Parts: sequence; C-alpha cells; structure tokens
Amino acid sequence: MNTKQIVFIALPFFIFFGNCKQKETAQISEENKPQIGLITKNAMVVSAREEASKIGSDIMKNGGNAFDAMVATEMALAVCYPYAGNLGGGGFMVYRTQYGEIGALDYREKAPIKASKDMYLDDDGNYMASKSKTGSLAVAIPGTIAGIFEAHSKFGTLPIEEILTPVIKLAKEGFILTEDQAIRFNKYGPIFKEVNGESSIYTETYNTGDLFKNEALAATLTEISEKGRAAFYHGNVGEKLVNFLKKRDAIIYMKDLNAYEAEWREPIIFNYKDLKVISMSPPSSGGICLAQILKAIEPYPIADYGHNSTKAIQVITEAERRAYADRSHFLGDPDYVEIPIDSLISKNYLKARMDNFSFEKATPSTTISHGSLLGYESMETTHYSIVDQFGNAIAVTTTLNAAFGSKLYVKELGFFLNNEMDDFSAKPGEPNMFGLIGGEANAIEPQKRMLSSMTPTLVERDGKFWMSVGTPGGSTIITSVLQTILNVYEYDMSMQDAVNAPRFHHQWLPDIIQFEPESFDKKILTELEKYGYFIDENSAPIIGKVDAILALPDGTYEGGADKRGDDTAVGF
Ligand code: DON
Repeated sequence: MNTKQIVFIALPFFIFFGNCKQKETAQISEENKPQIGLITKNAMVVSAREEASKIGSDIMKNGGNAFDAMVATEMALAVCYPYAGNLGGGGFMVYRTQYGEIGALDYREKAPIKASKDMYLDDDGNYMASKSKTGSLAVAIPGTIAGIFEAHSKFGTLPIEEILTPVIKLAKEGFILTEDQAIRFNKYGPIFKEVNGESSIYTETYNTGDLFKNEALAATLTEISEKGRAAFYHGNVGEKLVNFLKKRDAIIYMKDLNAYEAEWREPIIFNYKDLKVISMSPPSSGGICLAQILKAIEPYPIADYGHNSTKAIQVITEAERRAYADRSHFLGDPDYVEIPIDSLISKNYLKARMDNFSFEKATPSTTISHGSLLGYESMETTHYSIVDQFGNAIAVTTTLNAAFGSKLYVKELGFFLNNEMDDFSAKPGEPNMFGLIGGEANAIEPQKRMLSSMTPTLVERDGKFWMSVGTPGGSTIITSVLQTILNVYEYDMSMQDAVNAPRFHHQWLPDIIQFEPESFDKKILTELEKYGYFIDENSAPIIGKVDAILALPDGTYEGGADKRGDDTAVGF
C-alpha cells in the first residue's frame, strides 16, 4: 500500500484541536484540515520520494530488516533524489533495535588532510564566501558509502548485492520526473554547466513526466555492489573521483579516501516529561540543541497556551535563542573539541538560562551570549524514517549540504559532490549559508568533521518505540523536529497533521522569528511584534520537510510524509 494520498478525516475540528484551549490558536485553512497518514501493520519507510520508500519497503517485505532497507533507501534516494540523496555526501543514523538497544552512526564528511583553518580567506583576511560553497574546494571527504556498509555489517541480514539490485535497476531503467524535480533540474542545469565546464544528463531540459535514467550511476553502484566499500575508498571508483577532482584543483587525494571511517557514537538521550528522546550527538548539534530546547520549555504548560499561540511561540523562541547561542560557542567535532554535554543539557543549567525570560518583552539576541557553565536556501538535505516487522526503528538524515552540493557532478561516476566544508566556521563572526555563526570549536582542521544541525531522532514512550522523526532544513532542522514532537505529544495531533502544521524558527542570530508565510494568525504576529520580536514571513517559503513514523496504541504505525514535498510513505 502506498499513500501520497492521505486519508482525509471529515471530523469536526474540535476532536483534533480539542487541546487548544486558548482563543489565540492559529487559524486553520482548508488545506490544514485534520489528516491521517498511511497506516500499516508491520513495516514502513517514509522518504522524500515514492520510489525510494517503495524499494526500502520491498526489501523488508522480502525478509530484510530496517538496516537492509536503510542501505536500499539511501542509495535509491541518490538515484531519484540527487538534489540531496547521495554517494558524494554524508549523514547520520540513530537506531533502536527490536531488543531496545540504541545507538548512532556518524558518516559525516571530513575535511581533507590538506585543509587549513584559513583556507577560505584571501591575503587580506577577507572571507571568500563562494569558495566554501561552489566547486572543488567546497568538497569534503564523502562518508555515505562507508556509512551504509558500516550499518550493514553490524545489523544487515540480506546480501548487499540483493539489496542494491532494485536500486541499480532504478538507475538503469529510470524513473518519472515529478513537477518539482523537472523544475529543479531545469533551474540548476545552467549552473552545472558553468561549474563543471561540460554538459551532462543534468544540463538537459526536462518536463514533468519525463523518464530519467543514469547509466553511469548504475555502473558505479554495480561496482560497489560487487567489490564493496573498498571500490569507493581504495579502488576504481575512488581513483576516478580523485582524478576528476585533481583536474579541478581540489585538495582531495586517495589518502583522504583511504583514511575515511564511519564512527559509532553514543546518541544524546534525555527525558521530556514521560518521553525518552534519543537523538544525534556531535558532530551534530541536533541532539544537544533539541534537548536544551525541550528541557527549557518543560516547566511551561505549553499545551494550555495553545498550538502556535503567542505564549507558546514566546517560550519556544526564547529557548531556541539560548540553545543556538550555546551551539555557536560550545559545539564542534567531539574528536577535536571537548563538549560539556551533561552540563549543557542539565535541568539546573537550562532553568538558569531561562531566568531572564519574561512574557512582557523579547530578550534581544545582542544581550544573549553562550551560557557560562558552572540565506537561506531551502530543502536540500533529506531525511527518512523506517520501522520493520521485527521491531527495529531507525531515523536517518543525509545530505550534500546545499542543493546538489558543490554543483560538481562526476559525470563518469554519475553523482554529485557535497559542499559540506561550508558547515565549518570559516572565519569567526561570518555566517555560513544558513546564517549560523560559528566559533573556534567549529574551526577548520585537517580530518575534522564540520558541525551539523541534522537531527535524526527516535522517541520512546512507556519503554517502547513511539516515534521516528527528522527533516532537512539546515539550521531549521532542530526546531522543525522539536515542533513535530510537540505537535503530537502536547497538541494531540495525528502524525500527518503534526508534519503538516505550520512552523516557525529562531536561531539566536539573526534576531528574527521566521514564520512560514500566510500560515500564522496575523493577530498573533502583531502581538509578538508588540513584545519586541522581529517577525519575518518572507525569507523561508517552507521550514523543514519532515518525514516521520508514529507507533499507535493499537500496534500499527502511522506515517507522516510532508505535504511540502513529494514525500511518500510506503509500507505493509
Ligand atoms: O549538516 C547540516 O546541518 C547541513 N549541512 C544540512 C543542510 C541542509 O539541511 C540543507 N537543507 N536545507
């Protein structure tokens, strides 16, 4: 069974919004009427593309588990969602096995051995912003192939060849372009031509409904299927990649690929009321920031305030502001910097951080720095959630960073390369492409991993798996995951409604609250302005593109596939 079509529930609003006690509740437009996502009994994949969700789901139908499905889904997204799905990028996975074991896998890209702190500064010390974003110097060492093989070797049950067979078929025989996809390919085609200096399948003009094939990628995947991860990090695929980069004055060599390893990490685990949240640890800031925000708002009765009410927005915004200030100062690659995780997410510290918050007046970000411890582009990353028939659950977020990464396309191999180097703090005080200001902890060093906001998250309730959730959105990832969890837990929404609900975002600097346009009650926005908040309804057409799965009390699962994209839940 497959739903893009979501079941529309013709029930009165008060059943679903019965918890919204205050008059201030945001307006509900026709298209925001209550909906329920795909319901399945056994297993489900929710991802950015129907083809990828189906391939992952079929792997489980054929006896594979969630980790086998992860390998298939990740590679299928590289084929049919090249905007963000990748071989040339990296990501994070958080898992919970059928036995309740939890863990996290870090396959984040690393800086090349030859990278250096000031590599994006000119002779006068000025930041050359385009160099960390486009072309060969923006590329970090890809981790995705290491990630899928690491996950597979620890937990996989089906042979890699069997898992990759339908993916190779998808690349070879092609898939149908959606409207969004055709628009994107046409929009970026001229940029690819300019950056790469050559034509490719991605520089042609496409229409909705066209069949799109990638023979070169099919050949690369076949080689990886036959020879394993070594084909990429030690063999032929890696050599072709390095040759391609050498011609473009990159600083990535075979020894960079040889040295790459994915790392198992301890996830960030914390309680919010009776939920146990398991999220990504550094080098992602996701888990720590999510913990800081949730724990800072825990003492406030936000369900009573009402969904997207003035008071709820105020409390959440102020908690976000403080968490992002800490992110900027304290967080970086844990292999390079010491991070006081326990203190940062402790109840006392977070209570003290909120001490100067008042409902009467916004706290200006200029007065908030990190605590003392005792551009936005749109949706270019991608997230998928999987549950299997055995009870394993995973949340995976993977990225090239910007749309199609550095825009460098390795024609011979059929895939794009990331521009993840932009996630480092290239110069103190200079914002990256998401407007995030980084500190010394996230300065560039050889072989270091750049700080991420990706927040693949699992939640347990009553000791059992309850939710798998995540999203693209750069700096807005953390706050989108946060709101999705709150929407179900505090505001009793279905998974699909929680994903669809309008979102807002604050990240300390710039000192603005971004709102999805035309989705919030104008009265509430005016009221927030009165309290000193800066309202921005223009810079982000959408915030996040969440894919999630919720375990329902009767043992079935509900998928939440974000209406903001082509996202689709498939399961059985
Ligand atoms: O790791 C990070 O935080 C970013 N590279 C994620 C980029 C992203 O989500 C782009 N999508 N909007």
